[in-house]
Amino acid sequence: MGLLRTLCVKGRVGVCGVPEYASAHPLDVLVRAKDSLFRHWKLRCAHPAFRDGHTRARIVRESTRHLSTNHDTVPPWGWVVLGLGRAARARCAALEAHPDVALRRKVSRRRGLGHGTWREALDDPEIHCVAVCTENADHPQRVEASLEAGKHVLVEYPLAPTAAEAVRLYQLAATKGRHLHVGLIGLLSEGQAAIAATVSRARVHRIELALTGGFGGWIAEEARAGRYGQLAVSRLHALWDLVGPLTLQRATRSQRPDGYTLTIELRDEGGRFHRIIERRDAGASRHRTVSLVDPRGEPIESPVAPSREGVFARDVALFNGLLRGEAPRVQRQTVVDVLALAEEVSLRVGTPC
Ligand SMILES: NC(=O)c1ccc[n+]([C@@H]2O[C@H](COP(=O)([O-])OP(=O)(O)OC[C@H]3O[C@@H](n4cnc5c(N)ncnc54)[C@H](OP(=O)(O)O)[C@@H]3O)[C@@H](O)[C@H]2O)c1
Repeated sequence: MGLLRTLCVKGRVGVCGVPEYASAHPLDVLVRAKDSLFRHWKLRCAHPAFRDGHTRARIVRESTRHLSTNHDTVPPWGWVVLGLGRAARARCAALEAHPDVALRRKVSRRRGLGHGTWREALDDPEIHCVAVCTENADHPQRVEASLEAGKHVLVEYPLAPTAAEAVRLYQLAATKGRHLHVGLIGLLSEGQAAIAATVSRARVHRIELALTGGFGGWIAEEARAGRYGQLAVSRLHALWDLVGPLTLQRATRSQRPDGYTLTIELRDEGGRFHRIIERRDAGASRHRTVSLVDPRGEPIESPVAPSREGVFARDVALFNGLLRGEAPRVQRQTVVDVLALAEEVSLRVGTPC
């Protein structure tokens, strides 16, 4: 209940706190209290969905003050980056370029790299935000420990291997009054925006996302554990972002000694069928294509090739927006739903070996 405050705005009852979590369990308690005490009053959620400019300004100020009080600070926020692989290097560059960020530590498990251990970083009161950039299987434990230590968390996708674990982590974030953000950088490219514009303008009947990528290291370990769907989570999000909720129709996998091909067929709520094809092979370089087809089966030209330039910087800006009380780009329910879909894909094709 501590993260929520009540206030009177123009004779109505408002609830404010960290906007992203305003629908969490404490709000249910508040709703019940309101219903018994102020039956004729209107309860509104502290979310930028408040369209009234005055109300929204008050809410945002309250929300920021709540966070500031807890941290006894104002931006720049202190950050630590955990793991120093490819994503982490791009994340560090984006954090270092942001005026509201003070990147205080980089932590690696490899000897001689970075500054101290991640547990030391979590004990550091000058650190308010943690970027979890390690391999997929390592995400849940680091997210959980960071939230338990009272930090806001940005985690590279996927948040967790299962939807149930994601829900548990979101609930922990809500309990702790902290932001938990998944870095879905694939949604932030100019290519994705251009494709979204085409989808809204043209009569798109079918979308096919194809990825070729490497196979080895932690990706091979994920595959050996049968988590093929989780390895495709960025493509699942990209498609969901373009066409809305999806249901799984079919998933197949063909295995090679040093790689595999995964084909996922999905249906959107309008009855259109879409496909994701992931081909991973040892030594292959990353390449992604998006094809759009019209109802006659003819290809639709999309103006911009998918490029990931600037995506980490945009994602860091989104996270800083959350700290200032802005709405998330992707609802947590979508993150959970996409993870459930990824799990379903894995169940169909993911015989662990
Ligand atoms: N690559 C991308 O563009 C990208 C984009 C968005 C999201 N992601 C997500 O980010 C996470 C990490 O992906 P990644 O591409 O950064 O993987 P990666 O380069 O293989 O790094 C993963 C982890 O392996 C360790 N590592 C890296 N290089 C190493 C080396 N030479 N020797 C030993 N260990 C090494 C690092 O941890 P230590 O420093 O602690 O050893 C690092 O955190 C994944 O969850 C992925 O889904 C990646």
